[in-house]
Order: sequence, then structure tokens, then C-alpha cells
Amino acid sequence: MPDGDQRRLRRATYDGAMARIGLLTGGGDCPGLNPVIRGIVRKGLDTYGHELYGFRRGWKGVLDNDAIALTRENTSGILHRGGTILGTSRTNVYKTENGEERVLASLKEREIDVLIPIGGDDTLGVARKLNAAGFPTVGVPKTIDNDLNATDFTFGFQTAVQIATEAIDRLHSTAESHDRVIVCEVMGRDAGWIACYAGLAGGADVILVPERPFDVEEVCDHLRHRHETTHKNFSIVVVAEGATRSDGGDAATAADTVDSFGHARLGGIAFELEKEIEERTGFESRATVLGHIQRGGSPVAFDRVLGSRFGVAAIDAASSGQFGMMTALKGTSIEMVPLEDALAEPKLLDPELFATAEVFFG
Ligand code: F6P
Repeated sequence: MPDGDQRRLRRATYDGAMARIGLLTGGGDCPGLNPVIRGIVRKGLDTYGHELYGFRRGWKGVLDNDAIALTRENTSGILHRGGTILGTSRTNVYKTENGEERVLASLKEREIDVLIPIGGDDTLGVARKLNAAGFPTVGVPKTIDNDLNATDFTFGFQTAVQIATEAIDRLHSTAESHDRVIVCEVMGRDAGWIACYAGLAGGADVILVPERPFDVEEVCDHLRHRHETTHKNFSIVVVAEGATRSDGGDAATAADTVDSFGHARLGGIAFELEKEIEERTGFESRATVLGHIQRGGSPVAFDRVLGSRFGVAAIDAASSGQFGMMTALKGTSIEMVPLEDALAEPKLLDPELFATAEVFFG
């Protein structure tokens, strides 16, 4: 059957009205955003005959009414590309003067019927408020941190873990050659998912996560034990940027400022540990901060598939009136869950997973 006929056939199975759908990508970028956009646009055009508009740079684009029409052509060839073709920003509508009114005015001017914000807790928090204010929204969960509730995984997380794991593999050979302890700092904000997964996959000798404040002397004991019992003179410590000490204090920060959602810029704990471990154990130590390398570049296959499935599910939900809901992965199925459930509290590291990782400490 020729392509056109197939499309007409699929279109004929949809008895809803054609609509104007807006989408945006907000917050930190994340591998897998482009597959979501592509999924929304392909099914939105072919099955539903919708018109699709992509707002540029997250909520900023909605505030400024800056959008482009999304077509088969301009969303083709993006599946494997990192980042987001729409751009992103950490703009908080509710910290902007007349933010909600401006957003509603832009959406009205463009005659948008439903908005699909793709983002983490901040972006989806704005989506939830807009939906409560009466504007139909459908959310798609995005974050390398994997800290959103009501979904087993967010896309981007597996890519970040893969990149961090490969980095840890590489750190092993240089640590071993020089008889050093290397402290590798990974992202994750207040959750230890990336640290725990990458640390476990990469064979880290100690993993430090925000959910389990650490005692530096215990960390040193693990390292001494490993060096004494295995006669190996090198170790790898993986530390989450948000890790804190058991004797109190906040996570280390890389800047004095906070973003428009009130988040501090975390970073620097690896350098503190490098110094303290060397002083206490006498083992020469180095710190490596992976930073934005974890967010850049091509998504792994899992995130391309999850992003595509979320995109398709989001346009289905937008077309069938499932507003105030978010796409979610539950086991192997894609389901719709209330945005409320996803945002009630952050999803912190599973203690059982950490207990498994601990078996390999020291
Ligand atoms: O939420 C994703 C994330 O990469 C966090 O892991 C990290 O703390 C933060 O964003 C970094 O944000 P920015 O790109 O604004 O420095």
C-alpha cells in the first residue's frame, strides 16, 4: 500500500478533532528530548492531523510567544541527536511578572488547544499549575537525575549512567598506573541514582550518595581495607554532587547564586574528598568532575526508545483529553499518571539498590 494511503487509513481511525498542539522542552537538556519531539510530531501529524508548534527555550518561548511550526521535515534526522532542537532554559513562569497571564495570552494568540511540556520537576510544576488554572497540559518526564516519582525511569538517565560508567572504566587504568585514589563526581542533584548505578556498573570501591550522609573516616577505612587485603594500590570513589556529611552541613556548591526555581549549583565535593583522603590515608588522590559531559551527546538506545514511546503516548493523551497527566514507564508498559503523583516528592535512591552496591565497598 502506498505511504499516503496508509496515512489516510490511520487518520480515518481517529474520530477526534484536529487540534493545535504546543510543545516545549524546559530545564537542563537531556539525551532523548529529540526522540520525544519526533514521536509527538510524527503521530500528531500522521494519525491525528494536528498542527504542532514548538516553543523555543522552554517557558521563555511561551512567555515571549516565540515558536516554530513543527513539520515532518524539521523533525526528521533528530532521533540520535543529543540536546533539544527547540532549545531550553530554566525560566520560572511563576517568578516572572504577570507570568501566567503572559503565557495564557501567547497560547490564546496562537490558538493552542493543548500544551505538552517536556521537563523535570520544575518544568512540570509549572505545567501542573497551568492545568489547574484551566489550560490543558500533558507532561513528559525528563531528567538525567531519574528523581521524578510515578515513573520507573526518566529518559536521559541511562545515557548519563553509560557515560559515567565509561568514564569510571577509564579512570581505573590511570588510577592503577599511578597507585592513586580517584574521586569521581557525578551529577544527580539531591538523588544518588546516577552515582549508584554508574558506581555499581563501573566497580567503584566506595559510592557516596545524598540519601546516605557519609563519614570521611569510614570512607578512608574502606580504602585502607581494599589496599591491605587485595594488595591493590588504587581505588575509585564515586561521589554524587549532592552528597553530604553525617556530621551536618549542606552539599558543596560551585556558585553562590541559585536559579529561578531556587536550586543551588552543586559541585566541588570531589575536591574536598581528594584532599581529605590523601591527608588521612597517605594515598595520593585526584578528583575528576564529569559535569555536563553526562548530559551531552547522543542518547543510548534505551533513551531513544523510551523518548519515542513517551512522545507517542503524550500525543495520544493530548488527543483523548487526558489533561493534567504525565507519561510514565511502569515495568515495561507506558501509562498515564497524574502530574500530582509525579511531583508530590522527589524519588530518592532505592535503599535496596544501595545495599547491593555496598557489598562491593572496600
Ligand atoms: O537536573 C539535571 C542536572 O544536570 C543536575 O544533575 C545538575 O545538578 C544540574 O542539572 C546542573 O544544572 P546546570 O546545567 O544549570 O548547571
